[in-house]
Amino acid sequence: MADLKGKVAYITGGSKGIGFSVAEALLNAGMKVAISGRSKETVEAAATQLGDQRNVLAIQSDVTKLVDEEHAVKMILNKWGQLDVVLANAGIGYFAPIDEMTQEQWHNMINTNLNGVFHTLKASVEALKASKGYYITLASLAGTNFFAMGAGYNATKFGVVGFTQAVMLDLRKYDIKVSTIMPGSVATHFNNNEPSEKDAWKIQPEDIGELVLDLLKMHPRTLPSKIEVRPSRPDKK
Ligand SMILES: NC(=O)c1ccc[n+]([C@@H]2O[C@H](COP(=O)([O-])OP(=O)(O)OC[C@H]3O[C@@H](n4cnc5c(N)ncnc54)[C@H](OP(=O)(O)O)[C@@H]3O)[C@@H](O)[C@H]2O)c1
Repeated sequence: MADLKGKVAYITGGSKGIGFSVAEALLNAGMKVAISGRSKETVEAAATQLGDQRNVLAIQSDVTKLVDEEHAVKMILNKWGQLDVVLANAGIGYFAPIDEMTQEQWHNMINTNLNGVFHTLKASVEALKASKGYYITLASLAGTNFFAMGAGYNATKFGVVGFTQAVMLDLRKYDIKVSTIMPGSVATHFNNNEPSEKDAWKIQPEDIGELVLDLLKMHPRTLPSKIEVRPSRPDKK
């Protein structure tokens, strides 16, 4: 996208962590940004923290429900009349050996991480066709590296990577760009983490904000479709 000023983005799970930092980066680049989360209070507080309310929209939406995502996209189109960038970022993780993982944890992860990215795209694809926009998923290195106690999370993130790559092939004929970002450890609230000094070695969420900006500014002839990003030096244990 040659000029990001005035372009409109929707970030699912923008109330904290990576989604919040990407929202900050896009706002600083002159974009208008809608963020979502499951709790009205939390997402509204995050929107207030982001600043100028003319350029920010807080939406209560649970990505596990297609009807919520359809409502979110309607709100954005009603407010700004266009939708140029969609970041399907909302995600959760439960980590346990498979014999200890509950059915509820399994279904929550599949419904949020995998069904969620589908719902977000299903709700926004016509708007993205109209804008020749950009759809980005937040996958993970867990979408290519499997590990013990990660069966459920691995299943969702391998799924997100495969989904996004196939969608890229489906949508490029409409000039819609599609990428998946696959980070290693990021210093966020993920998995009940409280970000602190101990996370200094990790990727910082604002680094993912910079990465998303780089993708949006890439010359339209070129598409980085699958981006692995990791801490330069792993934790010294
Ligand atoms: N942190 C890492 O090390 C890491 C590494 C690789 C990939 N990722 C991926 O990055 C994405 C963002 O995670 P994060 O690290 O930023 O975690 P985070 O700090 O826990 O933030 C997660 C965000 O997702 C939202 N969310 C969760 N379930 C939702 C639902 N059903 N509907 C709407 N929003 C929902 C949360 O909002 P509410 O709680 O307010 O609903 C929150 O805004 C996830 O997909 C995660 O798998 C994270």
